[in-house]
Amino acid sequence: MKFAKVTARLDGLGSEKWAVHIEGKRRAALGEAMIFLSIGEPDAPPPEAILDVANAQMRAGRIRYAEGRGEANARRALARMYTAQTGRTIGDNQFIYLPGTQTALYAAMMTVVDEGDEVLMADPYYATYEGVIAAAGGIPRPIQVDPDHGFHLKAADLEKAITPKSRVLLMNTPSNPTGAVFTRSEIEKIGKVCEKHDLWIISDEVYATLTYGNTVFSSPFDVPELEKRTIVVSSISKSHAMPGFRCGWIAASPEFCDRCIPVTETMLFGSQPFLEDAMAFALDNHFPEIDAMKKNYESRARALVKELEGAKNVSARMPEGGMFVMVDVRKTGLTGEAFAWKLLEEENVVTMPGESFGQGGTGHLRVALTVDAAQITEACKRIARLAERV
Ligand SMILES: Cc1ncc(COP(=O)(O)O)c(C=O)c1O
Repeated sequence: MKFAKVTARLDGLGSEKWAVHIEGKRRAALGEAMIFLSIGEPDAPPPEAILDVANAQMRAGRIRYAEGRGEANARRALARMYTAQTGRTIGDNQFIYLPGTQTALYAAMMTVVDEGDEVLMADPYYATYEGVIAAAGGIPRPIQVDPDHGFHLKAADLEKAITPKSRVLLMNTPSNPTGAVFTRSEIEKIGKVCEKHDLWIISDEVYATLTYGNTVFSSPFDVPELEKRTIVVSSISKSHAMPGFRCGWIAASPEFCDRCIPVTETMLFGSQPFLEDAMAFALDNHFPEIDAMKKNYESRARALVKELEGAKNVSARMPEGGMFVMVDVRKTGLTGEAFAWKLLEEENVVTMPGESFGQGGTGHLRVALTVDAAQITEACKRIARLAERV
């Protein structure tokens, strides 16, 4: 039987990136004690009150078909949140509720990318980006960013990479894997380049609430001149530690939303009203558990950086946001991939090779902050030990 070309385009874009993690899992299943720093799954439980709302609303009969755009209360909660964030009135016709950032990303890409269009992105980039671009028939155009400048994309490098086929800048702030957070001024400079070349900006902001130290989150959606070309994709997967709820959204111009709805409706025919109610409640309220979770990520990152201070051949810098730290092993002379395999085999620590996130991640490991500080500290001792040995 003949399969569609999209299956060939997506072939091989998945599992090999996770090979170290999969091998770590296999060993753990055989009883080996492993430390997993590989997956960005929040380890904190979500606020009980949100679970109670989901449960109550399900029991109250909010289990019928939902509106294709998302339920009115969920879109109103989003409108309140983005009105507060941007300082402008954002209407409830500027949102589409979708099951998670990943689905939102897919729908956004399908709405603006035609076959052969180029999608620019900072390299390293999140592991599913190549696939989502390829699914839409687009061509990923990674732009390498400098680890020694905090992995920040420069407007001049973006401009150099643009060709007549460039259609979209896909940005991710705070970044997975690098922890870089765009400043308002960087966004304005990058935005000017996007305006000049008439690029869409798809902004993956799934880690927006997780910023550390003095870092302030900023979005291209906040810049009035960029609003109409910006498509924000996000969710409560990380902000409220609820990835299994699949509560996410697109925030964009009314015109974009009108064009995108037929794309999402052909795929989904609406989501689950009781989960939308839970999301609306999550966005409208403040939870001390969430503050504690964020503090934990920050103190784990600080513990990691401190533990590696003074280590030979290996270093790490404090991320500006997100749930990960990039550990630089370039001085060992090994690739991130080779180091991650050795670390797994010789020290029972499971990390992601930087190369799994593009060539820009070469010579790095991505470490997830989703285990307690004691385990992170122990893992760092082992990383330092291996770096000194090789
Ligand atoms: C950068 C980035 N975008 C999107 C996602 C997917 O998020 P969601 O659970 O909302 O689909 C993740 C999950 O790890 C991510 O790291």
